[in-house]
Amino acid sequence: MSTTARRLLVTSALPYANGPIHLGHLVEYIQTDIWVRFQKSRGHECHYVCADDAHGTAIMLKAEQNGVTPEEQIATVKADHERDFADFLIRFDNYHSTHSPENREFSETIYRRNRDGGHIATRPVRQLFDPEKNLFLADRFIKGECPKCNAKDQYGDSCEVCGATYAPTELKNPYSTISGATPVEKESLHYFFKLPDFEAMLKEWTRAGGLQHEVANKLAEWFESGLNDWDISRDAPYFGFEIPDAPGKYFYVWLDAPIGYMASFKNLCGKLGLNFDDYWAPGAESKTEVYHFIGKDIVYFHALFWPAMLHGANFRKPSGVFAHGFLTVNGHKMSKSRGTFIKGRTYLDHLQNPEYLRYYFASKLSGSVEDIDLNLEDFTLKVNSDLVGKVVNIASRCAGFINKQFDGQLSAQCSEEALLSEFIAAGDGIAEHYEARDFGRAIREIMALADKANQYIDEKKPWALAKDPANRDEVQAVCSVGLNLYRQLIVYLAPILPGIAEASRAFLDLASLNWESRYNLMLNHRINAFTPLMTRVEKDKVQAMVDASKENLTATVAAAPAKAEAKPAAEIEALAPIITIGDFVKVDLRVAKIVNAEHIPEAAKLLKLTLDLGNEQRTVFAGIKSAYKPEDLIGRLTVMVANLAPRKMKFGMSEGMVLAAGPGGGDIFLLSPDEGATPGMKVK
Ligand code: MSP
Ligand code: ZN
Repeated sequence: MSTTARRLLVTSALPYANGPIHLGHLVEYIQTDIWVRFQKSRGHECHYVCADDAHGTAIMLKAEQNGVTPEEQIATVKADHERDFADFLIRFDNYHSTHSPENREFSETIYRRNRDGGHIATRPVRQLFDPEKNLFLADRFIKGECPKCNAKDQYGDSCEVCGATYAPTELKNPYSTISGATPVEKESLHYFFKLPDFEAMLKEWTRAGGLQHEVANKLAEWFESGLNDWDISRDAPYFGFEIPDAPGKYFYVWLDAPIGYMASFKNLCGKLGLNFDDYWAPGAESKTEVYHFIGKDIVYFHALFWPAMLHGANFRKPSGVFAHGFLTVNGHKMSKSRGTFIKGRTYLDHLQNPEYLRYYFASKLSGSVEDIDLNLEDFTLKVNSDLVGKVVNIASRCAGFINKQFDGQLSAQCSEEALLSEFIAAGDGIAEHYEARDFGRAIREIMALADKANQYIDEKKPWALAKDPANRDEVQAVCSVGLNLYRQLIVYLAPILPGIAEASRAFLDLASLNWESRYNLMLNHRINAFTPLMTRVEKDKVQAMVDASKENLTATVAAAPAKAEAKPAAEIEALAPIITIGDFVKVDLRVAKIVNAEHIPEAAKLLKLTLDLGNEQRTVFAGIKSAYKPEDLIGRLTVMVANLAPRKMKFGMSEGMVLAAGPGGGDIFLLSPDEGATPGMKVK
């Protein structure tokens, strides 16, 4: 029997309102949704809230680029997000926005209470400022020449060529990537949240058991290296909330983002008549549990700033923060050029069925912070073999006989009580795995049961029995057992496969498939007509989805001229002065094969490449670490400048340069020749 009812409030991180939902995001929303559905199935009171994260410079600039107001921008994206989530069967109890009255109110309250408690400090900060846009520039919006090696077009924090790190004010000939203007240094008063005030409380909270051990270890490291004040203000123009006692100063987006969890919940309280304080007042920890599902990249915000802000404002702290790893596809970072940066919508357009992905992700999730890989071949095989081959197969084999020969009527008695009891008893262990978010283990146990059910049917061979009318009762008994076993399996799979569960509930004509319902056998029960529950994943469609994800990219590039006015000038770099053919032939470009690629532990942006030029090998340090994993590069061809003077770098001698396009970060695109080219060929 299930334990006493708990009250839970569960959240997923709030997606930014500046882009579509992709399969990486879905790891999180699917994981959370499964856990929430499991809790609800167990009879607990569980509310799942989320919202769009609507503030910040990136969204403000995106709106400008699209020629719309920020409000219009976030409304469009929110509608798209909600449609994507609904189509992946992610069932929020509430989906709100951080750009909402509730969020403004809580942000102000949390700020004021922390200020009155002495946890806010102010001090002037000197920062680069874009005089054309009248905008302070975050490091990622500034480029210039590296102060150490003079490499051009380096970002404000570090050099991709020599690996040096520096302050943006040290760049030579800096420019704003937003307007192209030369930034000027300007001073402005900033507001800081005094995180170190909360060190003792945070250490205690870390030990309270709501964190994965990997996360707790990370926190211990952070404590050791010392906590710092957190800059929570940004100057106008900024899309966000103005700080109440500081006109022209706005809350940094990450200040009001987690508060969005409360705001969305408050909004839900209004709809359902729930008492907000039961969940968020100090001391509410003993009656209600609050859990945040997040990606490993945002642990700092959720496990340090967030509990500290709450504590300083006299609210309760989360019961737990559950971090997951990042999605890779076919073993590599999602990549636009490979077609593995797949949007949720592209997936749905090609594969139609969200449950394939829900099942596959679930099978890979273990409750740890390790990255998870979507291997598209394995995906196809696993879904087809487990879901179509094992689970759905049980129902279709048995329901056919029951519908056709017995008018939908199941036997009055169960001929295999021991087998059914075993299936029912297995539910306790499976529930523990769900609770621990070890969905992979839950699935392994459920599939072992599915194997048993199929084995039972294979042994009894109802199709053979049915040939002799004397076996009529036995056929009915066997198929009735089969359908009862199937129903147990569906109870266990329902949090992962809500669509199949609902279709099964309808054809089995049952009121509920919740966890408790597994104790009720279907005896002397009449089922409805069977409708096919799932079709196989087709390899061609998976390939078409990958191809379309590549096409999306070409389509965006091709469509660019039409939107040219909306694009900021700095996005397309100005052309260099005209050169003669004589100038050009001085550059000896060669096809090169990357025979080795490795990380340099101390270099933030560089990979060490060994390039084969047909008759010799070269070592080249390339600033492409942010976009490529070494193992993805080994074996591929690219183009290099082969007659560049060797240059001594921090990590060794660099003997050339590989060619790549793109602004940097995740968007670096290494050139490759068409098929047929071989190492050493001259490019001219
Ligand atoms: N807006 C912030 C979160 C604010 S929460 C108060 C944000 N947004 S996001 O859109 O970038 O990411 C939303 C969630 O999706 C994050 O938890 C993030 O870790 C997760 N993921 C985004 N890309 C992912 C993968 N490729 N793989 C797995 N999870 C990923 O961060
Ligand atoms: Zn440099």
